[in-house]
Amino acid sequence: MSGSEIPVLAIDGPGGAGKGTISRLVAERLGWHLLDSGALYRLTALAASRHGVALDDEAALAEVARHLDVVFVAEAEATRVLLEGDDATTTIRTEQVGDAASRVAALPAVREALLSRQRDFRKPPGLVADGRDMGTVVFTAAPLKIFLTASAEERAHRRQRQLREAGVDASLSSLLKEIQARDARDMQRSVAPLKPADDAITLDTTRLTIPEVVDRLTELLTQRGLLPDA
Ligand code: DC
Repeated sequence: MSGSEIPVLAIDGPGGAGKGTISRLVAERLGWHLLDSGALYRLTALAASRHGVALDDEAALAEVARHLDVVFVAEAEATRVLLEGDDATTTIRTEQVGDAASRVAALPAVREALLSRQRDFRKPPGLVADGRDMGTVVFTAAPLKIFLTASAEERAHRRQRQLREAGVDASLSSLLKEIQARDARDMQRSVAPLKPADDAITLDTTRLTIPEVVDRLTELLTQRGLLPDA
């Protein structure tokens, strides 16, 4: 299988649409590799803060991104993330790191620095790539591109449930505001803005369960002839 023949399922969409969970489940079901590209932006932001690099110093941030010392360890329930040898799995999921990630992700030099690292995840038998620009920039020739979305209200509810499970209370209105601000920043940036690729299929998950979405994606992959016959 040459590099360009290795199938990629590109899943883009706004934060909280379920991309992370769905991508992990599809990758597990198919035995494909998984790229959580948002984690790379989050790790860049965290590494920058640890090394005292300002969030507006584009050149220095790009250096941080290029030299990111990160290891992803696939485990049964989730992927453990090690940054410079330290477990950063939960730290990179905080709102603070998410907010910083969305700022560094708006800088062209940082995006450029992370390009080849993202493309290196494409290995046989296939890759599920989760992000904002998987179909529009990183894997433009992906044979299946999905734009996964859900209403901002539904995404705020999901986030609130997730936080509750982690023992954190957050008001729905503040979560909704954060989600809308993050959407606006991701969609309005001049480089690689969040938008569906021209050839993407949009899937609104507001009223779908997780297994329904996973089944739908498996169906689409089968229809495109991307899975070996069962
Ligand atoms: O999906 P996430 O919440 O982990 O992403 C963190 C931030 O990184 C988010 O603000 C969008 C940005 N991002 C991006 O610009 N491009 C990607 N391919 C993935 C994430």
